[in-house]
Amino acid sequence: MCGIVGYAGRNRAAEELFEGLKKLEYRGYDSAGISTADRGEIFTVKRSGMVEGLAPLLKGLPGTVGIGHTRWATHGAANDANAHPHVCGAFSVVHNGIIENYAELREELTAAGHVFSSQTDSEVIAHLLDYYYDGDLADALRLTCARLKGCWAIAALCTHFDGFAVARRASPVILGEGEGYFAASDIYALIGRAHSYCVLEEGDIALVTHRGFTIYDCHLNPVSRQFEPLKGEKGEDGTGDCPHYMLKEIRQNARTMRATCRKFLSSVDRAALHSRLQNADKIVMVGCGTAYNAALAGVRLLGGAYDCPVSAHIASEARYDPPRVTDRSVCIAVSQSGETADTLKAAAICREAGAYLIAMTNVGYSAITRMAHKVLPVCAGPEVCVAATKSYIGQLTCFHLMSVALSPDKRAEWLLSAADDVAKIASCGEYAQVIARMCIDSRAVFFLGRGADVDVAVEGSLKLKEVSYIFSDGYPAGELKHGTLALVDESVLSVVLITDDGLAEKCKNAVEQILSRSGKVAVVTTLRQTYDELKDRVHAAWLLPPAPAHLSHFLTATALQLVAYHAAVLSGRNPDKPRNLAKSVTVE
Ligand code: M6R
Repeated sequence: MCGIVGYAGRNRAAEELFEGLKKLEYRGYDSAGISTADRGEIFTVKRSGMVEGLAPLLKGLPGTVGIGHTRWATHGAANDANAHPHVCGAFSVVHNGIIENYAELREELTAAGHVFSSQTDSEVIAHLLDYYYDGDLADALRLTCARLKGCWAIAALCTHFDGFAVARRASPVILGEGEGYFAASDIYALIGRAHSYCVLEEGDIALVTHRGFTIYDCHLNPVSRQFEPLKGEKGEDGTGDCPHYMLKEIRQNARTMRATCRKFLSSVDRAALHSRLQNADKIVMVGCGTAYNAALAGVRLLGGAYDCPVSAHIASEARYDPPRVTDRSVCIAVSQSGETADTLKAAAICREAGAYLIAMTNVGYSAITRMAHKVLPVCAGPEVCVAATKSYIGQLTCFHLMSVALSPDKRAEWLLSAADDVAKIASCGEYAQVIARMCIDSRAVFFLGRGADVDVAVEGSLKLKEVSYIFSDGYPAGELKHGTLALVDESVLSVVLITDDGLAEKCKNAVEQILSRSGKVAVVTTLRQTYDELKDRVHAAWLLPPAPAHLSHFLTATALQLVAYHAAVLSGRNPDKPRNLAKSVTVE
């Protein structure tokens, strides 16, 4: 989603901002822009398309102070005029979030003589600053924020101020100190350039100059915020030996399992966690997309381990129809980024209703960690590809360890041995490419399974559709005959997962039902006997290393992630940046 960077220092701001924006590209965006200020003048370049498109324009941006933005369109098309920054009079503004009351503000400002040049909700912020400014930038920003409804991270330049101002509500702003003073919506923009950082609190306003930061609360009372050392994740830049981040990150699945086990065993108070879960009257989980799919596996794992009801909820639904919780309930918010707006909202509702909130996240400084009573770290390292892969594997690892919180050592041993098999699968492209080719030659792809395989089927389907744009669905194999079979013919592929001996016969029935309607079938299995029986009957069969049923989802999930990756590449898509999608969905 949208990204913000700001800089005040001794270096040329344009280059600093350009580098910062490049680090935010992974979030997904459709236009980019930069404003700098120099000797009482603002210079702005912005255009639809990639950040790289700004490179030839940087020399026209003098000055050592500026703000930059990557935009993911919400209000108004992805064109040059709607790109940020938006300029009005002495002000230039970038904004992440949504201004819900922009239409009425725009009407009011238009009546006062303001002329708008974009269709965005964000442009009203520049006009409000111009309207309220009376010689004090922080105060103009305070008055502006008081008029806004919705959520925002704002950075604003003013020709009368030798620096810039930022403000936040429900959208993160991080300040960083290094060779100069930085602000950003995402810490990745600061890695390598700032040695310490602080996350602004809700409602904070800050002024950033060449000399440092002045931070205020929403009433403009000066406040101090804690700065922490910023350790760069070295070696995370670039795709390494892989052509894409998605492949690199799938190949980090095994590493993620090992790191998450290590961290869990060394840092989690297992007795306290076990007692909390043991005494809960219910355990509810909230998440979106892949994080929700991981929670589905969590329901099986925790449901088998604890006596209370355990349920998973799509966060965008739960926030309007929240699960009923009490002060004995536990809510687990699952989120790679820890910034997903719907997940934050659903988690906040459960917490306010009394639930003990556990954040399961890959990002240690994220909003969900500040809201939670307890954080369970997923140690996947920065995930750059829009499609979640290694973070899903890390979430599954966490759920496994939670399900045996009191004595996780044996489970960790099993997980580490499964990690070795995951590494083998991730490094082998042959079978994945065969199935990927079948996917792109098909009108639709269904992913089927029974038991825990259903959860992976649902996630495999999401992965395929988001990076290859092929229509796909994932559901229990037993449901086939209750409707979906009507769609099956020779142009439709069904990928059938079979990992549980006890359910294999039933899965084979589904395979036969598809074959007898001329449907194509690819089987992905950990069971040698099933493979031997089916390999000559179906169109493709992939035998994965043997694994106990409860661990097989690490193997099948890795296999399906690879299938999705190769389907994207074979069909000429960039798997790292699927169209229309953003890495971190910070709007509701
Ligand atoms: O950062 P989060 O885990 O909260 O993100 C949730 C979803 O937006 C995310 O999983 C999305 O579905 C991915 N694109 C899936 O690959």
